[in-house]
Amino acid sequence: MMSLTTPTPSRHRHPRLRARSASAAVLAATLCLSLAACGAGKKAPAGSGTDANGAKKLVFGFSQVGSESGWRAANTKSIQDAAKAAGFELKFSDAQQKQENQIAAIRTFIQQKVDVIGFSPVVVTGWDTVLKEAKAAGIPVILTDRAIDTQDKTLYKTFIGSDFVKEGTAAGQWLVDAEKSATGTVNIAELEGTTGSAPAIDRKKGFEDMVLKDPRFKLVADQTGDFTRAKGKEVMTAFLKAHKDINILFAHNDDMAMGAIQAIEEAGLKPGKDIRIVSIDGVKDAFQAMVDGKIEVVVECNPLIGPQVMDLVRKLKDKAEVPARVESKEGVFTKDKAAAELPNRQY
Ligand code: AHR
Repeated sequence: MMSLTTPTPSRHRHPRLRARSASAAVLAATLCLSLAACGAGKKAPAGSGTDANGAKKLVFGFSQVGSESGWRAANTKSIQDAAKAAGFELKFSDAQQKQENQIAAIRTFIQQKVDVIGFSPVVVTGWDTVLKEAKAAGIPVILTDRAIDTQDKTLYKTFIGSDFVKEGTAAGQWLVDAEKSATGTVNIAELEGTTGSAPAIDRKKGFEDMVLKDPRFKLVADQTGDFTRAKGKEVMTAFLKAHKDINILFAHNDDMAMGAIQAIEEAGLKPGKDIRIVSIDGVKDAFQAMVDGKIEVVVECNPLIGPQVMDLVRKLKDKAEVPARVESKEGVFTKDKAAAELPNRQY
C-alpha cells in the first residue's frame, strides 16, 4: 500500500562523501548496459526495442546500487519483472555500490536517449552535475529507494521509497519499550549501512534520537558494515573483541544482522540471549532467525516497488503530473509474530 507525503527534509545528511575518480577499466567491467539499438526509420523485430505491433517501446534506463543484500536482490527482480510486464525496454546497470559507476551509467543512458532515467543513489551527495546533464537532454529522472541531497529539486521529478528516519525511530521505539523496566545500563552496538547513504544516515538518526535521550542507553560501538553479510560478520567480530558487555545490536539491515549472528555464535555467545538483535528489511532469512529466537524484531523496508516505479515512468513519459514523493507503508514484526508471518513473506 502506498501513501503520498511531502519530501523528507535533507538537513540530516552527512557531508561525508569523498570525491571518487573513475577508472575506465572498472567502468568497463561493471557497466552492463543493454546495447539493443532501435535503428532510426528501420522496423526492428519485436523484442529488440519494439512491441508485437512494431511500435517503439518506452525505454527506461535504470542504475541499481548493486547486489549487496537480499533486499537489493528482491528490489532488482521487482524492477525487472515490472518493466517486462509494462512492456518497457529496460536498460539495467548494476553499479556495484560505486557512485562513479552510477554516474557513468546515467551518462550512457543520456547518450542512448532513453525516455526516462531511474536510479537508486548509492550515496546522497554528488549528483548535481550529471542530473543537470539529464535535465539539459530533456530526460526526466526518478529516484527510487534512496534520496539525494540537492538544493535544486528540479533535477529529478519524483522519489519513491521508504522513510528511513521512521524505520530507525520504529527500531528505537521497540527497544525503549522492551527495556522500560531495565535498571542498569543497556550497551548498544550499531552496524551501520554504507557510509553517506540515505538509509545509513536516516536510520542512525531515527534510532539514536529515540534511544539516546534516555541515559540508561549507551552506544558503545558503531561502524559501517556496508549493508553486506560478510562485512556485518567482520565488524561484529571486531566489536566483540573490543567490548565484552554488548547487550543490544542494532543492524541497519538484515544481511549485516545475519553476518553478526555468525560472529556472535563463533564467539561462543547466544544471539537472542547474550546479545539481542534489532534489524531492518524483513527478508525471509531474518524471519527465520526470529523464529529461531536469534533476532528480536525486524522493521520492514519494502523492496517490491517495481510496479509503482513503472506507473511513474509511464506518467513521466506521457508528461503527466507525478507526486513529489511516494512513500511505502511498512510494518514492524516482533519474534512472537514471525512464525505466522514467514509463509507470507515474498522476499
Ligand atoms: O536502501 C535500502 C537498503 O539498501 C536496504 O535496507 C539494504 O538491505 C540495502 O542494501
